[in-house]
Amino acid sequence: MRHLLSTKTLTRDEAIEILDVAEDMAETQFREVRKLPTLRGKTVVNLFFEDSTRTRISFEAAAKRLSADVITFSAKGSSVSKGESLKDTAQTLAAMHADAVVIRHSASGAPQTLADSGWIDAGILNAGDGTHEHPTQALLDAFTMRKRLHGERSRGRALDGVAVTIVGDILHSRVARSNVWLLDTLGAEVTLVAPPTLLPVDLGPWPATVRYDLDDAIAQRPDVLMMLRIQSERMHAAFFPNSREYSRRWGLDDERLARLDPASIVMHPGPMNRGLEISSGAADSPRSTVLEQVANGVSVRMAALYLLLSGDREESTRV
Ligand code: CP
Repeated sequence: MRHLLSTKTLTRDEAIEILDVAEDMAETQFREVRKLPTLRGKTVVNLFFEDSTRTRISFEAAAKRLSADVITFSAKGSSVSKGESLKDTAQTLAAMHADAVVIRHSASGAPQTLADSGWIDAGILNAGDGTHEHPTQALLDAFTMRKRLHGERSRGRALDGVAVTIVGDILHSRVARSNVWLLDTLGAEVTLVAPPTLLPVDLGPWPATVRYDLDDAIAQRPDVLMMLRIQSERMHAAFFPNSREYSRRWGLDDERLARLDPASIVMHPGPMNRGLEISSGAADSPRSTVLEQVANGVSVRMAALYLLLSGDREESTRV
């Protein structure tokens, strides 16, 4: 794998391989092997043009646990705020011999532009681009589902027949897009639930069923209920009903939580708007995987960095 830009282009075998390597990586952390020598001498640059807590810290932890050198670059406080272009920024990083660039950008397609440009000869990992994709989030979500539903050791397994319901601001969600493509590739059955104004106009090519009523969707007994953040920073007022109305009709409150099948899990990529799309009771309940998703993110990002920057699967977990 040269770059990780999207889940839409991942084959089933490639996706399962990433999950399997992530399982290997998780096992090394479980054995309290804090650092693997695998990427010693490699330089990973975290290039964040948009705010992030989980993704940025998680990629940094992942690279460090593989012994790579890490440079974290935030657009705030850099020469980007003086108007420096993506091209000049990329060429500056190339001059510093970056082997991989983890990029988050508000423009959909920015990671693809970087990968295609020839400005820098490095593996590019998409850490979220506009409303387009967030592939490592979807991979860590799939990893979390596989672990919860199939057990700690699930090498080689996909998510065939798993019913996943994704609820909320689908329109602005790169997490939803990456999840829909990846879950379909892994054999899951995806349902999207949202107000009509928070769904993309052209849902034709999406491999998912659409519903507008959360209570109807809960009555279908999904294995996974994934709540999405309302992205008010990307939203025109006309899209959004109002907070109280949204919460009443599309929020996961304690009463809806109680109606979920006892075996089903509740996911949220974070950051959460507690009291809007999810109640604190649901976010902190034993069936919530919110913090497991964060922990699994490190293993999945270790796997992605390893597969981009190294070639030897056996070598990946050798201490
Ligand atoms: N889930 C996610 O991408 O979170 P951050 O914005 O904190 O990175």
